Amino acid sequence: MKEPISGFSKLTKEEKINWLTKTYLNDDPKAVDILKQYWNKNEKLQQLHEEFTENTISNYYLPFGIAPNFLINDELFAIPMAIEESSVIAAASKAAKFWRSRGGFKTEVIDTVKVGQVHFIYEGSEEKLELFFNHLEPKLRAAAIPITKNMEKRGGGIKSIELRDRTTEIDNYYQLHCSFETVDSMGANFINSCLEKFAEVLEKEVAVWEGFNEKERHIEVVMSILSNYVPECVVRAEVCCPLDDLSDEPNLSGEQFAQKFLRAVKIAETEPFRAVTHNKGIMNGIDAVVLATGNDFRAIEAGVHAYAAKDGQYSSLTHARVENGIFKFWIEVPLALGTVGGLTSLHPLVKLAIEVLGHPNARKLMEIVAVAGLAQNFAAIKSLITTGIQKGHMKMHLMNILNQHHATLDEKEKLIEYYKTNIVSHSDVAVQLEKLRQ
Ligand code: MEV
Repeated sequence: MKEPISGFSKLTKEEKINWLTKTYLNDDPKAVDILKQYWNKNEKLQQLHEEFTENTISNYYLPFGIAPNFLINDELFAIPMAIEESSVIAAASKAAKFWRSRGGFKTEVIDTVKVGQVHFIYEGSEEKLELFFNHLEPKLRAAAIPITKNMEKRGGGIKSIELRDRTTEIDNYYQLHCSFETVDSMGANFINSCLEKFAEVLEKEVAVWEGFNEKERHIEVVMSILSNYVPECVVRAEVCCPLDDLSDEPNLSGEQFAQKFLRAVKIAETEPFRAVTHNKGIMNGIDAVVLATGNDFRAIEAGVHAYAAKDGQYSSLTHARVENGIFKFWIEVPLALGTVGGLTSLHPLVKLAIEVLGHPNARKLMEIVAVAGLAQNFAAIKSLITTGIQKGHMKMHLMNILNQHHATLDEKEKLIEYYKTNIVSHSDVAVQLEKLRQ
């Protein structure tokens, strides 16, 4: 029977590891070695990583790769991607090469509005609350000046504060629904600080506003928090080319390719089971760049999937059309990203990724990330409607299978050569290795 521990966070790193291995890992010295082999030899760097979060006992690496040759609005980018899944970076690179010779990607930031809400309960008359809100709004803005001053200097700040009546859904439930511009920062801390200040002022002003009677002079703030649903912080990325230039597949004309492609996208637009996988492929590209550039991929994931369901049914984030002989394929996606603050100025690899991208501002990063998602989706659909994905995927996955079998360098070289003309499968790799080892 395991005992709970109190004061775990106060233990040193070594003590935490000792407790963990004793309690959950049969005191296995190999477990300690595994944890320690990921410690960085550079002590300062190790400490930096440990201080990003709490109770750190080791580091968890992801591969950091580059997908080159992305032509975006006539500028060439090499896109850093942090991802463990085989084929993703290869697919992005292939799509980049394909579209580079067809005019590249075109992008446009549609808007950059971010949202936060103070959720509260009020039991009095709605008309009075509206009157009170007119009196309150300038006070909210004034009280937030110490927080908004610097953001305003950078061109951002509070855009709007609205009173929203949600009493038809939940008894006595109202919101201060607020929108913000946070320029190059993701803005979570800025928005949450503003909202908590609004909540404080709201409670204080309610208690003294002369328009309320004694019974009405009370509001219960439930919570004050930003929303990761940002349907007005949206970027569009697009590729297009004449049908005649579209296919590089043998035995498939541009028109045939487009027809198959459009059908595949239509299925993702109408069938949620397919839409989720279709969008998962898009997120392979998006998350990898979001992670490499030190942004919050959970926030992006939550916001993107909510957006995919904004019309009442979960649907594709990408769309395709043929018009006057031109094939068009595009994505519209909400991306609340930052290029200042957070990990961007702390994590050396994140700083390097941002440098590789030419120090983009947040708007430019939104464009690059959307392109990575669109490219990934193009590559996936192209494979799915032609060869199927397993052929390419298993080739890329070969190295993982070889490593599972502890293949030597020599064995790897021989089998990589062998699988240039043979189909990869887990069982066949085992057979071929066995043959080599005999
Ligand atoms: C795999 O990680 C992603 C795909 O399943 C995406 C798709 O089906 O479009 C290949």
